[in-house]
Amino acid sequence: MIDIDSIRDQFEQHYGIHPRLMVRAPGRVNLIGEHTDYNDGFVFPAAIDRATYVAARPRDDNLVHIVALDLQEQDEFALDAPIERSAAHPWSNYIRGVAKGLLIAGHHLGGANLLITSDVPRGSGLSSSAALEVATGYAFQLLNRLNILGEELALLAQGAENTFVGVQCGIMDQFISALGRQDHALLLDCRDLSYRPVPLPAHTQIVVCDSHMERSLAGSAYNQRRQECGEAVRILKQWYPKITALRDVTIDQFHEHEADLPEPVRARARHVITENDRAERSAVALEAGDVAAFGKLMNESHISLRDDYEVSIPEMDTLVAAAQSVPGCYGSRLTGAGFGGCTVSLVEQSAVERFKAAVAAAYRDATGRATTIYVCRASDGVGRAIPQ
Ligand code: GLA
Repeated sequence: MIDIDSIRDQFEQHYGIHPRLMVRAPGRVNLIGEHTDYNDGFVFPAAIDRATYVAARPRDDNLVHIVALDLQEQDEFALDAPIERSAAHPWSNYIRGVAKGLLIAGHHLGGANLLITSDVPRGSGLSSSAALEVATGYAFQLLNRLNILGEELALLAQGAENTFVGVQCGIMDQFISALGRQDHALLLDCRDLSYRPVPLPAHTQIVVCDSHMERSLAGSAYNQRRQECGEAVRILKQWYPKITALRDVTIDQFHEHEADLPEPVRARARHVITENDRAERSAVALEAGDVAAFGKLMNESHISLRDDYEVSIPEMDTLVAAAQSVPGCYGSRLTGAGFGGCTVSLVEQSAVERFKAAVAAAYRDATGRATTIYVCRASDGVGRAIPQ
């Protein structure tokens, strides 16, 4: 857990003076609606109670100096020269990308001293990079009084990742890091960015299990899946000329023409179209207090991701099966891009300890590996770490 006083002390040690402000932006877990955001569809994520913290103070020159506390590394770049990618400090590209995005949008930025630390596990699929981008953007906006908030901040952060870091991610992670709400998940329409907060059932907990499998394939396979979805739209347009994304195709329309799609495009489209439907129905189920129906949709989502979208791996299937067999677990599925990373389960509060023991043992028996289990509370999106 992060200790705010120790961040202030570390800042003082590095810069000889206390920070002017401190912000936090959370990581996220997606409950359902996977690989739908870049198809203009629905996602249902929650921000988690683990976050990236940025302590900051303006400088009177045009330099941005960054201390990455957890990595024990430092970097510096100038705002009045072209901002380039850093090969020596890849983590710095998230910050450079956000600064560059703000400058391109015509904002004036003054120099700053930053110190960054995080308790979002890195590379586990809990959106540590989105948390870093959103926290940095928020710190810049406060330091420079830019008034870039909410949706605009999320889009800026996504733009930094798409154009500067080079990952063609959708909007989900940055959006929920910016706009998450305590004890709620958000049903987000990724086409127009309208959303609906849905309270999470008070008697349950969100439990995240880390497979500790490297998400090495994630980048290339992710972009390949995006292309396959684009190909499905291109073919289906012959019969449905008005569609611009898989979001526009109903399940009935898909069945009408699925035989016209080659594999694996057909299976990819089937996942996205049915997953969109599941995401919308999930929010309705939770609103009606039907946790069992919600859990069933989570389980169906995993099968679809495993068999149709083919983004699971045996270790994640093992974690999901172990979770689903614990009494008191409503549902379980892989979360995030896949190919490793974490699973998410919704578990009855009184069953959480039993769940942790059973899943850890089953995972160890089947794979010889340890899982790290996080019991998460849905948290608010980006904000000041210390209220002013
Ligand atoms: C990653 C991306 C998101 C989303 C998920 C899959 O987390 O960053 O935009 O596409 O994968 O649902």
